[in-house]
Amino acid sequence: MEYVLEVNDLATYFFMHDYIIRAVDGVDFTLAKGETLGIVGESGCGKSITSMSLMRLIPDPPGKIVDGEVNLKGTDLVKLPEEKMRGFRGNEISMIFQEPMTSLNPVYTIGFQISEVLRLHRDIEKREALSEAARLLKMVGMSDPDQRVHEYPFQLSGGLRQRAMIAIAMACEPSVMIADEPTTALDVTIQAQILRLMGELKDAKDTSIAFITHDLAVIAGFTDRVMVMYAGVAVEDAPVKEVFKNPLHPYTQGLLGSVPVLGVGKLNEDGTRRLLQAIPGTLPDARRFPRGCRFAPRCPHAMKRCWEAEPNMVEVAPGHKVRCYLHHEEVRERKMRNLGAAGRRIAKLQEHDRKKRESKRAREERKESKRDGVS
Ligand SMILES: Nc1ncnc2c1ncn2[C@@H]1O[C@H](COP(=O)(O)OP(=O)(O)OP(=O)(O)O)[C@@H](O)[C@H]1O
Ligand code: SF4
Ligand SMILES: [Mg+2]
Repeated sequence: MEYVLEVNDLATYFFMHDYIIRAVDGVDFTLAKGETLGIVGESGCGKSITSMSLMRLIPDPPGKIVDGEVNLKGTDLVKLPEEKMRGFRGNEISMIFQEPMTSLNPVYTIGFQISEVLRLHRDIEKREALSEAARLLKMVGMSDPDQRVHEYPFQLSGGLRQRAMIAIAMACEPSVMIADEPTTALDVTIQAQILRLMGELKDAKDTSIAFITHDLAVIAGFTDRVMVMYAGVAVEDAPVKEVFKNPLHPYTQGLLGSVPVLGVGKLNEDGTRRLLQAIPGTLPDARRFPRGCRFAPRCPHAMKRCWEAEPNMVEVAPGHKVRCYLHHEEVRERKMRNLGAAGRRIAKLQEHDRKKRESKRAREERKESKRDGVS
C-alpha cells in the first residue's frame, strides 16, 4: 500500500533542569491516502506531543525530537530546516487544535487569518485571498461568510470558531490533517456537525486524517484504523472493527471495558449492581518508565518476563499489531506450527534453553539472597 505519511520510531523528549521527560518514546504508524487514523490513550500518554512533533511545533527548548522519521510523501520532515518546514506546514500538513481560542489570534479577524495562510502558500492578492476565505467559511457551513470574514474570534461561538479552524486547516487542501481533540469542548450536536463536516471534506479532497480523541464512540463512527497509545508508545494498532471486536492488549481491553453502555450489564448474576470496570493505578511517570512493559504495574496478566524487558510491537494478524508478550507467544506458536516437524524440534530446543536460563537465574538469586543474609 502507498502511504502519504510514515512515522518511524519517533521520539520526543523534554530536557528539564534535572530530569528528562520521555513524552513520545518510539512511535510508528502510517497513514494511507484518504484514511482516518484514530489515536486514543489516557491523558499524558503523548498524543498531543506526537501530533506537535509531526508539525514540528515542539517548544525547543526544552523539547526536542531526538529520534525517528516523519516521512511525508517522501520528505523526512524531522530533517527539514525550519524555513523549508514552513512551506509544508499548512500547505501539506495542517492541524486543528482542541481549543481554537488558544490557536486563533485574538487581534486579527478570521478573514485575515485565513488569507494569511493562503497568501503564504499561494501567489494571490489580498482581495482575492479574502474572497477565497469567505468561500472557505461557506464551505465549512458558516452563514453570512462575507460578514464573518470581518469578525474577530471572540465574536464567534465555540462551534463557529472550530469551523474557522477547520477552514484554516483545509485552506491549502493539505494531504494530511491532524485533529487534536477537535470536538471535546463542544456540545454533542455541534460535535456531530463538525464530524460530519470533516468527513465530507475528507471525502471531497481525499485528505488523510489523524484524529486524536478520548471518545471511543467517535473512534467507532469516524475512523478506519485505531492506534492505542500508552506511556509514550503505541501498544495496539488495528482496523477499527478489529479493535472493538477483538482488542488484544490488556490496556485496550481495559479502555473498552470502561465505556458505559446504556442498559447493558447493569446487574450482576446475583442481582447486585455491576460497576464500570476501571483500570487500576495510573500512567507511569514519564521521567522513569518501568524497565519492562510499561503497562506491567497495572496489568492483570503481568508475568515475570513482563518486568524484565519491553515487548516489541508484533503483527498478529494482517494489519493488527500489538505490543504484549501474551501475543508474542501466539505468533511464535503459529510460526512453529507452520514449520511442521522442524518447528516442533526448534520449539523443543528453545523450551529446553528457556528452562535452563530460568533455573540458572533462580540459582543465582538463591546465592545472592544467601550472601545478603550472611552480610
Ligand atoms: N511543554 C512541555 N514541557 C514538559 N513536558 C511536557 C510539555 N508538554 C507536554 N509534556 C509532557 O509530555 C507528556 C505527554 O503529553 P501530551 O500533551 O502529549 O499528552 P496527551 O496524551 O495529549 O494528554 P491529553 O489527553 O491530556 O491531551 C506528558 O507527560 C506531559 O506532561
Ligand atoms: S506484556 Fe505483560 S504486562 Fe505488558 S500488557 Fe502484556 S501481559 Fe501485560
Ligand atoms: Mg493532548
